[in-house]
Amino acid sequence: MNQLDSNREQWNSRIGFILAAMGSAVGLGNIWRFSYVTGENGGAAFLVIYLLCILAIGIPVVLAEFTIGKKAQSDVVGSFEKLAPGKPWIVAGIMGVASAFIILSFYGVVAGWTVKYFFSYLTGGFTVQDSSEYVGIFVGFISSPFQPLLWQFIFMSMTIGIVYLGVKKGIEASNKILMPSLAILVIILAGYSLSLGGASEAFSFLFTPDWSALKEPKVYLAALGQAFFSLSLGMGALITYGGYLSKKEKLPGAAVSVAGLDTLFALVAGLMIFPAVFAFGISPDEGAGLAFITLPSIFEQMAFGTLFGLLFFLLLAAAALSSAVSLLEVAVAYFIRKFTWSRKKASIIVGSIIFLMGVPSSLGQGIWSNIRFFDNDILDSMDFIASNILLPLGGLIIALFMGWGWKKSDALEASDFGDSALGHAWIFTLRFIAPIAIFIIFLASTGIIKFE
Ligand code: PHE
Repeated sequence: MNQLDSNREQWNSRIGFILAAMGSAVGLGNIWRFSYVTGENGGAAFLVIYLLCILAIGIPVVLAEFTIGKKAQSDVVGSFEKLAPGKPWIVAGIMGVASAFIILSFYGVVAGWTVKYFFSYLTGGFTVQDSSEYVGIFVGFISSPFQPLLWQFIFMSMTIGIVYLGVKKGIEASNKILMPSLAILVIILAGYSLSLGGASEAFSFLFTPDWSALKEPKVYLAALGQAFFSLSLGMGALITYGGYLSKKEKLPGAAVSVAGLDTLFALVAGLMIFPAVFAFGISPDEGAGLAFITLPSIFEQMAFGTLFGLLFFLLLAAAALSSAVSLLEVAVAYFIRKFTWSRKKASIIVGSIIFLMGVPSSLGQGIWSNIRFFDNDILDSMDFIASNILLPLGGLIIALFMGWGWKKSDALEASDFGDSALGHAWIFTLRFIAPIAIFIIFLASTGIIKFE
């Protein structure tokens, strides 16, 4: 055990860790998932709940995960075993590994779509007469049985390849260039999209709340799930990454930077997608294809559109890759320790199983589209179970563990807060505010309590 411990990998630098955590957070969640979930749940009012979730639950739990990981220097399950042997908190670890399998299974499918779009632009772009054709192109592609599986396979192979190479050479190195480039491109595209004529409608959709949207019980859970998904929270990705930290990092600053950047990314992505939604007369509640339909419509209008399309989908696929890597790493780190597998063996076996688990999500867009759970297709159902249930439940347990399962002084010290007012506020949030908020949102989503 000790020998294994001293062989554990470490980040090269503090900035390397922060970038990797940002790489995990920023991904399809900020662009693909954020835009369609916001669109389906009424826009601005949803956004308010989402931002509240980030502030009151997200940031405190991000810091709790970093703290647990850094203290334990282990994977999700191992961290709970080490810090609280024989205690029931470990269910959060087991749920975390399960969530990694479920989320990456469908994440790989959608990421495969982005790789395919990249290649379409690489080979000259789409030929359309009218931007309305992008709906048909998208649906035609995702509903075909074989093609999407091929792209999912390609994407998953790249994910496995990076995890196989290890923490420093694989994960850390790739994020340093990608994140800044993607940020610049999203800002340029938002600027262009705002000039297309849908800007004022987009602004009122995103920033003028129609509070009646909050009568829908599903809105709260959707906002909570989106906050967890986007922050990579509640399943130990951040515990696992924190586990590769050396002892001398300042965690609160890192938690705020990661959450702040992730949120900013989503908001700017909203300013990129929604003006185009309105300019091209697409419905904001179009669903999971929203980004794949609006973005090509934007590129269609731009000078050098094919080049922008190519760059954009390249960077989006890369952002998805750094998130997928963090998902796979959660499971791989666990298998390496638990079964003393080599990193190589674990990445290939676990990654292949996850690829196979994603096949139904892909086929559910076409030949298996009659398989539905509460009117959701297979992909949406996997997403719902993991993002809206497992992640918030994991986050709830992590908050309670840090808030109640640790001695307060230990928690304050391990988080690098020390005996400060902010530190005490953090513990108070973990003890009361975050758990109660999650609990109320769960209740609200069942319709037992109503906000009118
Ligand atoms: N946060 C990632 C994204 O926004 C997805 C993710 C979820 C990654 C959970 C790791 C853990 O795309």
